[in-house]
Amino acid sequence: MTAHTQIHGDVAVITLDNPPVNGLGLSTRQAIVAGLEQAEADPAVKAIVITGAGKAFSGGADIKEFGSPKAIQEPNLLSVIRAVENTSKPVVAALHSVAMGGGLELALGAHYRIVAPGCSIALPEVKLGLIPGAGGTQRLPRVVGVEAALNMIVSGEPVKAELLAGVPGQKLFDKLAASPESLAEEALALAREVAAKHAADGTPFPLVRNLPCKHKDGDAYFQFARNMVKGMAKNFPAPAKCVDAVEAATKKKFEDGMAFERETFINLMWTSECRSLRHLFVAERAASKIPDVPEDCPKRDIKSVGIIGAGTMGGGIAMNFLNAGIPVKMLEMKQEALDRGVGVMRSNYEAQVKKGKLKQDKLDQRMALLSTTLSYDDLKDADLVIEAVFEEIGVKEAVFKELDRVCKPGAILASNTSTLDVDAIANFTQRPQDVVGMHFFSPANVMKLLEVVRGAKTAHDVLATVMAISKKIKKTAVVSGVCDGFIGNRMIEQYGRQGGFLLDEGCTPQQVDKAIEKFGFAMGPFRMGDLAGNDIGWAIRKRRYVEKPNMKYSKTADLLCEKGRFGQKTGAGWYDYVPGKRDAIPNAEVEQMIADHRASLGITPRRISDEEIVQRLVFSLVNEAAHILEEGIANKASDIDIVYIFGYGFPAYRGGPLNYANEIGLFNVVQAMKRFAKNPLDDANFWQPAPLLARLAAEGKTF
Ligand code: NAI
Repeated sequence: MTAHTQIHGDVAVITLDNPPVNGLGLSTRQAIVAGLEQAEADPAVKAIVITGAGKAFSGGADIKEFGSPKAIQEPNLLSVIRAVENTSKPVVAALHSVAMGGGLELALGAHYRIVAPGCSIALPEVKLGLIPGAGGTQRLPRVVGVEAALNMIVSGEPVKAELLAGVPGQKLFDKLAASPESLAEEALALAREVAAKHAADGTPFPLVRNLPCKHKDGDAYFQFARNMVKGMAKNFPAPAKCVDAVEAATKKKFEDGMAFERETFINLMWTSECRSLRHLFVAERAASKIPDVPEDCPKRDIKSVGIIGAGTMGGGIAMNFLNAGIPVKMLEMKQEALDRGVGVMRSNYEAQVKKGKLKQDKLDQRMALLSTTLSYDDLKDADLVIEAVFEEIGVKEAVFKELDRVCKPGAILASNTSTLDVDAIANFTQRPQDVVGMHFFSPANVMKLLEVVRGAKTAHDVLATVMAISKKIKKTAVVSGVCDGFIGNRMIEQYGRQGGFLLDEGCTPQQVDKAIEKFGFAMGPFRMGDLAGNDIGWAIRKRRYVEKPNMKYSKTADLLCEKGRFGQKTGAGWYDYVPGKRDAIPNAEVEQMIADHRASLGITPRRISDEEIVQRLVFSLVNEAAHILEEGIANKASDIDIVYIFGYGFPAYRGGPLNYANEIGLFNVVQAMKRFAKNPLDDANFWQPAPLLARLAAEGKTF
């Protein structure tokens, strides 16, 4: 059973019990209705309490049911809520921990609500490209006011129960329990109290639907809200619909508002944005699953971390562990380097304090967990050591030999290398099974993505441990096999190559950037190059010219680097930069350089449409991803989507490159590639669809 009913004297307690978050799937809904019927039929029962077992009241709809017939099969959530409202005995919802989405909507159908402090309250549907679909947009404004409700619905962000309970005039909670532990007892007492009251005075049970819903400034307020949302929501359709639905709550009769909400919800459900965001939701949860590493695989204890190198990456990586309360020891070759690294970390934290994002005592606590050393012997007790030294195989060799010498047996030895062979690094030690890649993205204390690079000999429990620790430090980890560039950078190389060809054929950097930013990318390839440093790509290309002499490249980026225009760090790259600002200012000299180079190749520039720009950039990612998938470098297509959304600014509402390709239809993707292959200025070899892609397209399938 996914909910069970127990009789406590004169109160029936229906407990949702569908771990992990008591999702309101079909069997849970059926069990709630069964509980209500049992309580109705039992003359000894005078009142009903609905609560949740374990770690939640309810996290809401069961997302696995979305789009399946089960989601709407009766009793659907609307019918369950109606059944609660119509029960002839008073119903008290007892909320704790998490009451979100459908869970909150269910509670809003109850006659009374009691909440434990600490409970997170939210209607997060907007994050999945939806609006609440079981009365949330109509009932929440009636209990917390129009503005507070709209803020919650448009942002999807959780609010703590005690904050809401403290709002004057709120009708969301009838009672704030003293503590989570006393909630059950207090809920029973409240149920008995209200049952006695209604028996005595004969008044009807209070229903949220009967409360008034008005905003004093009506139209003016909603116009203001619409403008705000338009600015923030960019290409997302759902936030604007949240405003419409809440406005309907203030203007329509309750049942008409419900019908409006329902219709809007169903229309959004079938949009590509909603499908993509749901894909992302599932993909993020699936990323930590590794086919041959069972979830119950034993994990090693990580109580302390060593970090080698206190540079850009080492410092950022260290902050992640300090934030999670895990002590870090940083090692460098010279005291000055340590001092510099620690100074940067401290000033990063101080900036957060200045912005009010971090309390001073938290800063002190975190910095107190940090220690430094110049001696490898001090790392002998570390459970995990992450190396972030210069990207040179000789330096890595020296470091890993030292680690092998001093680290205790069972310590995990990780490298943050972005291009070097993790198997070669593992083989510098006598314990390659304990070696793994942990490829963080810059800035490492901010970017959510972590590529976990699995070497040929990496042990299962090492992988399981690293995946678990990545959750602790709030990263979304994806496993990659060993190859040049792993998943993300291997794909970005092809994307960058297309960017170069587009310049040669007639585009300006800003035209390319604008087109792909309009598509939804956080940043176009040239602004991104300026941010990361154009010299990094230059170094990789120089290597490629030797390794793959037949691979075609635009030389424009090399010419740029020869001018020393490495990007933001030199104040000039594809664009100019004013110190202290990140605005990219187009530069006439760079445009002339591109035009001159084009002329020297005898190319007559042509006008290239935004559509072609976007397709060439995105499909280059798709084709390389198909190779990566086929070679087993990535375990599943959704992992690649996660890498691109969390590491490269791919628009979330498009669900990642492979989800986007599925949405377009793989047949169409392949047709476009065939067209691009005919362009003599492009790379015909590259545009041969990867065998996996060709096969799926021919069979009418998806990734
Ligand atoms: P960095 O130059 O800022 O820092 C490297 C630090 O390592 C320096 O402080 C240096 O003194 C120290 N170091 C060098 N050799 C050492 C040794 N033998 N023992 C102890 N310390 C030593 O470099 P960054 O950018 O932090 O890169 C570090 C690693 O992270 C490289 O492998 C790089 O490929 C990788 N990486 C860099 C990214 C980036 O965006 N910067 C992104 C992802 C990975």
